[in-house]
Amino acid sequence: MKRIAVLGSTGSIGESTLEVLRMRPDEFRLVGLAAGKNTGRLREQAEEFRVEILGVSSPPGGQGIMSGEDAALEVIRRSEPDIVVNGISGAAGFLPSLEAVRQGVALALANKESLVIGGRFLTEAACRNGVPILPVDSEHSAVFQCLAGENPENIRRIILTASGGPFRQRPKETFSSITPAEALNHPTWSMGRRITIDSATLMNKGLEMIEACWLFGVGMDSIEVTVHPQSIVHSMVEFADRSIKAQLSLPDMRMAIAYALSWPERIALPLAPLPTDTALRLDFFPPDQDKFPSLAVARRAMGRPSVLPCVMNAADEVAVEAFLKGAIGFDGIVEVVKKTMDMLDTFEVETPEELIALDKNARKTAGALLS
Ligand SMILES: NC(=O)c1ccc[n+]([C@@H]2O[C@H](COP(=O)([O-])OP(=O)(O)OC[C@H]3O[C@@H](n4cnc5c(N)ncnc54)[C@H](OP(=O)(O)O)[C@@H]3O)[C@@H](O)[C@H]2O)c1
Repeated sequence: MKRIAVLGSTGSIGESTLEVLRMRPDEFRLVGLAAGKNTGRLREQAEEFRVEILGVSSPPGGQGIMSGEDAALEVIRRSEPDIVVNGISGAAGFLPSLEAVRQGVALALANKESLVIGGRFLTEAACRNGVPILPVDSEHSAVFQCLAGENPENIRRIILTASGGPFRQRPKETFSSITPAEALNHPTWSMGRRITIDSATLMNKGLEMIEACWLFGVGMDSIEVTVHPQSIVHSMVEFADRSIKAQLSLPDMRMAIAYALSWPERIALPLAPLPTDTALRLDFFPPDQDKFPSLAVARRAMGRPSVLPCVMNAADEVAVEAFLKGAIGFDGIVEVVKKTMDMLDTFEVETPEELIALDKNARKTAGALLS
């Protein structure tokens, strides 16, 4: 039985992971849980799965619950898992990811920010310790599945699909009047607040392009994005002979989570099949780069991969929060990100500690721009 620790267990990815564990109690044993501040839900989960190693990042945790910034790290150390599922949102997920691979524990990674901000440190540590980083993001899971049995040297292009978000057909001139409620209304996926707003600006796709570079060892020039509103094709890989492989399913994160947990095997899941006995329409459009500048911003960030993706992510987290509170308009989000990147472009980063300092600096800079 594989021992699983789930970080961010009270969130969308965390709850979906627990659903997978409920489906296959014979395969997996939950041994550790970490969350931010929702101790009520954490206790319910712990009771249901009889988990004793618990942590929350925001004190007080209460009886039997570790609390504080290092709580997720302690959960990894004490629960002795075979796999850590990281479903924490934001840059707070980076150090727990690093801790898992440093401890020699396989990392099922939903927290894309871990690779976006610290891809160099994370991939180096994983390589040194012979630990796999198993993608949970549906696009990267799709690419990972397409690459099974393939020689990575034959990759010509990785084509990430994007739903296009709720504003694909909305005129750019009206973007400044978009409300948080409209932006939180994602057409195909139900997710946490930050990733939902990032999906509306396409910043989520920018983060995923960077994530793909680190996961699959390719440069930005090998990554493309296509808008696919049905969210059925989760991504594609083109090989040297121009053959393209794609992975398809109904949109359901439990499939990607289960693949990461069961890899290199597959396990049966009681999920709805993709209907093939009726007409199935799959559309693909080039993204509107003028309307959605996030993709170009992400390409620019990978020009200085140790510095700018971290700045881009931190500024985006701050700007998304500001948008949700009504402090800036929807089109202001990417503007704050771009300006913060301009201001911190000259920094250097050599250690994970310096990276954390840069993340803090970028938040402060973005915050100052807002006020
Ligand atoms: N949702 C999806 O379908 C999806 C798909 C692909 C990738 N992802 C990625 O997965 C990550 C999580 O997304 P989500 O949609 O699940 O977010 P979410 O619903 O907002 O959940 C975030 C989780 O992180 C916890 N958390 C926050 N700060 C923490 C900290 N310092 N230490 C430990 N736990 C902390 C939260 O705890 P509290 O609730 O207790 O505050 C919550 O459990 C993101 O990186 C996102 O990009 C998500």
